[in-house]
Amino acid sequence: MKKVLITGASGFVGSFLVEDALKKGYEVYAGIRGSSSRKYLPDERIKFLSLDFGNTNHLTKSLDDFAQENNGGFDFIIHGAGITKANNIQHYYDVNYLNTKHFVEALITTKTIPKKFIQVSSLAAFGPGNPKTLEPINHTHKPMPVSSYGKSKLVAEEYFATLNDFPFIIFRPTTVYGPRERDLFTVFQMVNNGFEFYIGRKPQHLTFIYVKDLVTLMLDSLERDIINKSYFVSDGKSYESSLLNTYIKQGLNKKTIKLTMPVAVVKALAFTLEKSFGLFNQIPTLNSERVKEFESTNWKVFTDDLFLDFNFKPEYDLERGVMETIAWYKQEKWL
Ligand SMILES: NC(=O)c1ccc[n+]([C@@H]2O[C@H](COP(=O)([O-])OP(=O)(O)OC[C@H]3O[C@@H](n4cnc5c(N)ncnc54)[C@H](OP(=O)(O)O)[C@@H]3O)[C@@H](O)[C@H]2O)c1
Repeated sequence: MKKVLITGASGFVGSFLVEDALKKGYEVYAGIRGSSSRKYLPDERIKFLSLDFGNTNHLTKSLDDFAQENNGGFDFIIHGAGITKANNIQHYYDVNYLNTKHFVEALITTKTIPKKFIQVSSLAAFGPGNPKTLEPINHTHKPMPVSSYGKSKLVAEEYFATLNDFPFIIFRPTTVYGPRERDLFTVFQMVNNGFEFYIGRKPQHLTFIYVKDLVTLMLDSLERDIINKSYFVSDGKSYESSLLNTYIKQGLNKKTIKLTMPVAVVKALAFTLEKSFGLFNQIPTLNSERVKEFESTNWKVFTDDLFLDFNFKPEYDLERGVMETIAWYKQEKWL
């Protein structure tokens, strides 16, 4: 059985990766922290591994010990551990860049480089596309991340470009949604409460990938003969922002009032939310950093190479994904 390590296994994307990797017959190691929830990791076949990416000595020892006990390291690694929200800018860099660098260095030092290392980056690393031409964001463009999150993901990507003999693939998913997800969930909640919320008056062109399609793609990529390439990931379509609300309204059978807020008001709101959530050591989904992304109008993305190289055939478009997500939110009484 081939061994796959999935870091960030306790998270939204990670927990789906673990489930799918088990279905595909891998020996699955869930990379978690002592404090990580195991709520979505109930399968008895899962092997847990506590990795401290901030502590190089601990990390090196863990990988060494693992290799000795298991006759070698992991066949594959999917590095999903990361943060999308932080209450200080340095934290993005520490987790999304430095931890990744420490991890790769420890794999090199311990001579446990896997056959393939999947780096879960983000479309945010490139930033939004041109708002005038509405041309899809493409590899040929100069990355121009607008948020600290995106910048930290970009620095991590640049680190991979400096490596020799380290087989990686970088995936840059656009907004990932589906069961268990908590950020886009706020949009579902708002519609459920009778409101559609828009930032600014300009139409936004958004892109999405349903979590199940994303994990199918990433696991499929492990066994393919492709290395040292990067891909943007979406379901291949672009959607006007109102469509997301439309599908949610249909799924929930709700009527809504449209609220369109000027960007300046949204920024002030994000600032206020940050301060009040901060009192409880929490970070709101609408925060100053993410407003820079939420206000951008062109998130169209180039995916021709992704569809071609992996024969990628997403099973979910936004409408189907939203309906399945609503069913889950309802079943779990989130809605
Ligand atoms: N969701 C999206 O729309 C989206 C889009 C593009 C890219 N991505 C990327 O996809 C990956 C997974 O995102 P997600 O949406 O699944 O996020 P998530 O639900 O917040 O999960 C993040 C995971 O990373 C782990 N993690 C965070 N800080 C860590 C640290 N210092 N050391 C070790 N593990 C740490 C978390 O562990 P704990 O449970 O212990 O906190 C959790 O397992 C991230 O790299 C993210 O940047 C997500």
